[in-house]
Amino acid sequence: MIQTNSGLRSLVQSLRPMTSSLSKLEAYSCYTSQAASALQQATKPNSYREDEYAKVDWDNLGFGITPADFVYTMKCSIDGKFEQGELAPYGNVELSPSSAVLNYGQGLYEGTKAYRTDDGRLLLFRLDRNAARMKMGADRLCMPCPSIYQFVDAVKQTALANKRWTPPPGKGTLYIRPLLMGSGPILGLAPAPEYTFLIYASPVGNYFKEGLKPLSIYVEDEFHRATRGGAGGIKSITNYAPVLKAMARAKSRGFSDVLYLDSANKKNLEEVSSCNIFLVKGNVISTPATNGTILPGVTRRSIIEIARDHGYQVFFFFFL
Ligand SMILES: Cc1ncc(COP(=O)(O)O)c(C=O)c1O
Repeated sequence: MIQTNSGLRSLVQSLRPMTSSLSKLEAYSCYTSQAASALQQATKPNSYREDEYAKVDWDNLGFGITPADFVYTMKCSIDGKFEQGELAPYGNVELSPSSAVLNYGQGLYEGTKAYRTDDGRLLLFRLDRNAARMKMGADRLCMPCPSIYQFVDAVKQTALANKRWTPPPGKGTLYIRPLLMGSGPILGLAPAPEYTFLIYASPVGNYFKEGLKPLSIYVEDEFHRATRGGAGGIKSITNYAPVLKAMARAKSRGFSDVLYLDSANKKNLEEVSSCNIFLVKGNVISTPATNGTILPGVTRRSIIEIARDHGYQVFFFFFL
């Protein structure tokens, strides 16, 4: 069992005031005029008041899907350029049965959150890092990718269009899920002829039902999440279905999640199914180096920076 030690807990808690500081978060209000006009078109039929909330039981939010009003979609033309993204009402996506994402898993996802402040603004956290990570993943999976500016602008539009689904301060967040996929048809194994970038959103509470209480984590020595030279270091959709079996087994044994070991030696800690891991002893924090098998988390990087600001020493462990 891994327990959050009190040093780490206070460090994690110290993230909260820091994440509400404008110096660490991007203010949400600076979308472009092009973004604003797309937004007007999409939101006009509903004409919600700026301070209006959707009908949601904010006190009982879990981490489940409650679709917000609008989805942002941007297609990539044949020359690899993404343009003319637009917001449309949430709904199913039409895909060719032979699309690359369905057949060969040519797809990436990202995850980020919008936070509502006491004075009614929305804040987003280090979106440029998610954008850069998607670019890195797209390169690995031979996909064209929206630019950092396009990604950030699209997430801002999506958050603003779905503002009424953003929980009141302290009750949760608006989870925002960007996807990039090979949507064009292909039969032989090759990159898709067409790509789609889309973003949907859902209000959420804590990911773990335990909230900020300590979690029991099962250390998995049979199944592995990633291998050297594979895709563990990017947010490929193909990294997630393979962990379901290990997670289900851990849950059936009373654990909350799984901690994976490196596949070469089966003894070095890597990461949990959907988060990075830190070991805290006194003033020293250790975490695995990002060598291609673990995801370079935005939270991981932020914790490292904040821990150093708070006088912790941060060590990265490597193994061969
Ligand atoms: C495998 C994995 N590691 C780490 C993370 C944490 O990444 P971030 O801090 O950028 O949300 C995630 C997020 O979903 C993940 O799927």
